[in-house]
Amino acid sequence: MRAAIQPGEDETAKAQRRRLTRRLVAVQEEQRLRLSRELHDDLGQMLASVALELHSIRADSAELDARLARAAQLVDQLSTRVHDAAWSLRPADLDRLGLRASVEDLASMLCAQLGIPCDVDLEALSRPLEPEVALTLYRIAQEALTNIGKHARPSRVSVTAHIWDKRLRLTVEDNGDGFDGDVAPGSRHLGLAGMKERLALIGGELTVETAKGKGTAIYADVPLPD
Ligand SMILES: Nc1ncnc2c1ncn2[C@@H]1O[C@H](COP(=O)(O)OP(=O)(O)OP(=O)(O)O)[C@@H](O)[C@H]1O
Ligand SMILES: [Mg+2]
Repeated sequence: MRAAIQPGEDETAKAQRRRLTRRLVAVQEEQRLRLSRELHDDLGQMLASVALELHSIRADSAELDARLARAAQLVDQLSTRVHDAAWSLRPADLDRLGLRASVEDLASMLCAQLGIPCDVDLEALSRPLEPEVALTLYRIAQEALTNIGKHARPSRVSVTAHIWDKRLRLTVEDNGDGFDGDVAPGSRHLGLAGMKERLALIGGELTVETAKGKGTAIYADVPLPD
């Protein structure tokens, strides 16, 4: 929203826009919380019951038994996916931990999971930021790191932030598979599109540098107040 602020726009209009942006970001977070609870409590519980049932049924033929075991395995995998999705949708504890420590946690969790080294330099995130800016940067780091875990197969990851030309830049980089950056996001790929939309809302910009076999760098730039 701040991108749309024209030079000379009066302070009241600026303040109004800022309030609206803050509200929009807060509403998105409320929706995520609701979805996270529904996934965890309703879907998660139901899947657990189905899995229990499937694991306990014994058929009178070996072939049927094998198929039941396969179905039970698929339901277990689905439960893990639902659990992961509910986990990633939960609210960030930025008020308690601060943005820097929260993003450091995300990075070290991913690198521990992948068993690879992580270069982290997030000193620039220690400065006070507006709540909607901090939340947006947190969600961007989360999606970029989730993408690395899902798609990149890297041997090294780096997460850094620095101030640059009155902008704060968060960089998430991996040396993994990379991808064809020209491919338009499809309806099944919401992550990168969501990052762009979130950043645009606070007057920021997303740049993706990638090529097949050459790794991926995600730059999230946000303007800093004068
Ligand atoms: N760090 C990365 N390394 C390799 N490929 C990536 C990376 N990040 C994104 N991609 C590729 O870009 C595609 C689009 O990413 P995007 O986050 O938009 O969707 P997604 O991760 O497939 O699904 P979701 O909607 O759950 O995020 C991915 O499917 C993947 O092929
Ligand atoms: Mg994604």
